[in-house]
Amino acid sequence: MQMFPTNRPRRLRISPGIRDMVRETRLSTSDLIHPMFVNETLKSAKPVGSMPGVMVRPPSEAVTEAQTAEALGIPAVLLFGIPERKDEEGSAAWADDGVVQTAVRNIKGGTGMTVITDLCLCEYTSHGHCGILRGSEVDNDRTLERYARTAVSQAEAGADIIAPSGMMDGQVVAIRQALDDAGFENVAIMAYSAKYASAFYGPFRDAADSAPGFGDRRTHQMDPGNRREAIREMRDDLLEGADILMVKPAMPCLDIIREARDAFDEPLAAYSVSGEYAMIKAAAANGWLDGDRAMMESLLSIKRAGADMIITYFACEAARLLRGE
Ligand code: PBG
Repeated sequence: MQMFPTNRPRRLRISPGIRDMVRETRLSTSDLIHPMFVNETLKSAKPVGSMPGVMVRPPSEAVTEAQTAEALGIPAVLLFGIPERKDEEGSAAWADDGVVQTAVRNIKGGTGMTVITDLCLCEYTSHGHCGILRGSEVDNDRTLERYARTAVSQAEAGADIIAPSGMMDGQVVAIRQALDDAGFENVAIMAYSAKYASAFYGPFRDAADSAPGFGDRRTHQMDPGNRREAIREMRDDLLEGADILMVKPAMPCLDIIREARDAFDEPLAAYSVSGEYAMIKAAAANGWLDGDRAMMESLLSIKRAGADMIITYFACEAARLLRGE
């Protein structure tokens, strides 16, 4: 009779050297995308209370922050803008000298980074909704025209990748056609395809001043109970011309990331959102978690689930650890 197991998994965990040899997933600085907030109303950088370590900066300072990320080996930034003036339509989103357009020009002028621009109207509308309103509802098709205009103006400023995050139906094809018509056929689209109506966006809305003035975003963002719908959204976005798919949030959606990885061959991004960052920071500040280890484990688990790239407010901190700094 066999008294001991012949299979001893512990053999491969017995030393750091062997553990390293058999490690299946590795995080690298090139997996990370650094999100940045640029606010036209600011004269100097301002910390975000609910996101310790994250700053909102005036457009003139965007390039310095991008250079810091670049020096750490991070390949790309994702830009969010907060304009000086908001209106019903969010018209500052497509202004040639708008906050994001200016920041893109500065960053492209001062770094070699890939610049991704978030495309939504919630930071630009006086009511904080992601598009033009008809009554109390976002009017899908009239909003698409504004998204198309905004995409072209972001591309004219030098954006390499446009990332529509408003979850309007048809937003990818509307943007693709507008970009192509304007001669930007090589500007790519990273589609926020499976974006859930999540409580984990709370801290972001402080940073971006984009909380809806009334109601919520449940008529366009996805119900967290739905899994098959996420796959449908991603398939539709690919048919509409998306180059990169995204799942958001990340840690609450590891199953969706895995499923997307198995279902599609296209590059897959995961957005580890503001609330995921805030939770780890808050627990670490209380001494309840080892912040560095929790950060690295969460990023690794997102990659293990199948993400090729991770948008994370931890990008610079994680890059420093990965580089042994
Ligand atoms: C804009 C947008 C949001 C986020 C990214 N793009 C806010 C929202 O949908 O309410 C959230 C990102 C984060 O929480 O880090 N629509």
